[in-house]
Amino acid sequence: MCGIVGYIGHREAYPIIMKGLQRLEYRGYDSAGIALFDGNNIKLSKTKGKVVDLEDRVAKEINTEGSLGIGHTRWATHGVPNDVNSHPHYSNSGNLVIIHNGIIENYESLKKELTKRGYTFKSDTDTEVLINLIEDVKKNENTKLGKAVQIALNQVVGAYAIAVFDKNKPNEIVVARLGSPLAIGIGEDEFFIASDASPFIEYTKNAIYLEDEEMAIVRRNKGVKIRKIKDDSLVDPYIQELQINLEQIEKGGFDHFMLKEIYEQPSAIQDTFRGRMLPKDAIIKMAGVEDNMKTFLNADRIIVVACGTSWHAGLVSEYIFENLARIPVEVEYASEFRYRNPVITDKDVVIAISQSGETADTLAAIKLAKSKGAFVFGVCNVVGSSIARETDAGAYTHAGPEIGVASTKAFTTQITVLTLIALRLARAKGTITSTEFRHHMIELELIPEKVKKALESDDYVRSIAEIYKDASNFLYLGRGYNFPVALEGALKLKEISYIHAEGYPAAEMKHGPIALIDENMPIVVIATRKGHYDKVVSNIEEIKSRSGKIIGIVTEGDTTVKKLADHVIEVPESLELLSPLLTTIPLQLLSYHIAVMLDKNVDQPRNLAKSVTVE
Ligand code: G6P
Repeated sequence: MCGIVGYIGHREAYPIIMKGLQRLEYRGYDSAGIALFDGNNIKLSKTKGKVVDLEDRVAKEINTEGSLGIGHTRWATHGVPNDVNSHPHYSNSGNLVIIHNGIIENYESLKKELTKRGYTFKSDTDTEVLINLIEDVKKNENTKLGKAVQIALNQVVGAYAIAVFDKNKPNEIVVARLGSPLAIGIGEDEFFIASDASPFIEYTKNAIYLEDEEMAIVRRNKGVKIRKIKDDSLVDPYIQELQINLEQIEKGGFDHFMLKEIYEQPSAIQDTFRGRMLPKDAIIKMAGVEDNMKTFLNADRIIVVACGTSWHAGLVSEYIFENLARIPVEVEYASEFRYRNPVITDKDVVIAISQSGETADTLAAIKLAKSKGAFVFGVCNVVGSSIARETDAGAYTHAGPEIGVASTKAFTTQITVLTLIALRLARAKGTITSTEFRHHMIELELIPEKVKKALESDDYVRSIAEIYKDASNFLYLGRGYNFPVALEGALKLKEISYIHAEGYPAAEMKHGPIALIDENMPIVVIATRKGHYDKVVSNIEEIKSRSGKIIGIVTEGDTTVKKLADHVIEVPESLELLSPLLTTIPLQLLSYHIAVMLDKNVDQPRNLAKSVTVE
């Protein structure tokens, strides 16, 4: 769960690496470091803190000349975030230097062995063990760096994306991956290495994504040679043309990525259904679904596995699949599913949802399901990600890069993809009529414009945030399709403002949370006209009689809730099934504004990371 960057070519490596690290800070930001090579010396600087802190440190410590270098932004797994534990790490001789994203699980036994052989360790990290293991192999076997890396990695249990270079081999960087992503950008006589393509997108659109258990030797002026780590066989490099551009990954005039991403939702949702849905012709086309239609139609049930916000999208999809396609659905936290010996058969379809496509628990759940014979379908945002590759088939959300740690557009685009799948299956099964099918598509097509309308409440939501920003607890209530939205609203607030918030099914409130309600408790209630409206209104009455402060999320033109609530935020009318795509917007904005007012780091909240590649 760290970001790694490397460069070898004809330009100065320093600015490329620093800019790249900034773009990768979403992967971790508790410490950062860089190692540059100028043909004679390795110059290494690292610090606890963010990439801006590293810039200050570098200015004091090293000169930045050099056309080869590697950099790292860290999210601690072994060893607390401090200067010493930051990457890069030297080997004992000072000749080799490494950056690493992942975890070496057997590092303790390796460390013991190496200690016996006289190696010493400055840090508490597993990474320093790995670089000394590589050094030990290199010395004992009298081999080149690439071979030493390969032999060492065959002794390692765990996950890694690494980049290593040797002071005595100044024209190459050796990289490898298992379980953590690694892309190589191919320029004109220059090469870029990174956890994703964002650090090099302005230099080249050509990239190789290493597969698990592959390593590559990247040589100045020569090219990239890829081998399998296990058996040393050569792999033909597959160079992909990248579809993203720089503008997509920068803030585009917004103060924060999160706000930019909230505002991108109309176009992101449109991109998600673009080309897949033709309401006029009553067609939904998704290759991954069409190619496996039989499997979907014969499935006894669908099991959704996911984490965090993606799990909430999964919960929404449970309501949608069951209602439209009449297929039983279970929604599982990937981390629970993988460890509880679940009953899975080859009649199950597992849908794995993940923005990053790298979440370790989700990936492990997929592997488990596959080993039991289930067909696994992925819903991912990041193209070429590990989950996208591990699944039997899938559908991308096409939301574009999501940088803010708190997920927003990923959520709404996941729901959009899942709705398309449910509609397609429903039509194939005949559980909805062709008129209903077309009607749903027409309504879905209107959603981007309606999201735009919902975003117009921004100023009003900010004024509500001003009133409640100092509350210590929030309650979020919803029913049916909007129960998961209540969970997601509470999660957004917790994540970025550090205010305690709970999401609850509105009716279930009576069985506990009602005890918390007093005049200091803001309660966000999703009360759209079509969603069990009367029942929710009764719940609002119950809150009112206990003096709770009510923020209602209502359908345009609502009058009933308006009379009861302290504030109402309107969203456009839509099908009940599509309402989560609208009701979630004001909740995202509310959490955003509260976090900004409390001066929190919105895009990089404490203790969290965008892509959780450890279990
Ligand atoms: C982390 C992120 C969340 C995300 C979750 C699952 O906790 O901070 O925003 O929902 O991981 O990530 P995924 O990439 O699998 O959707």
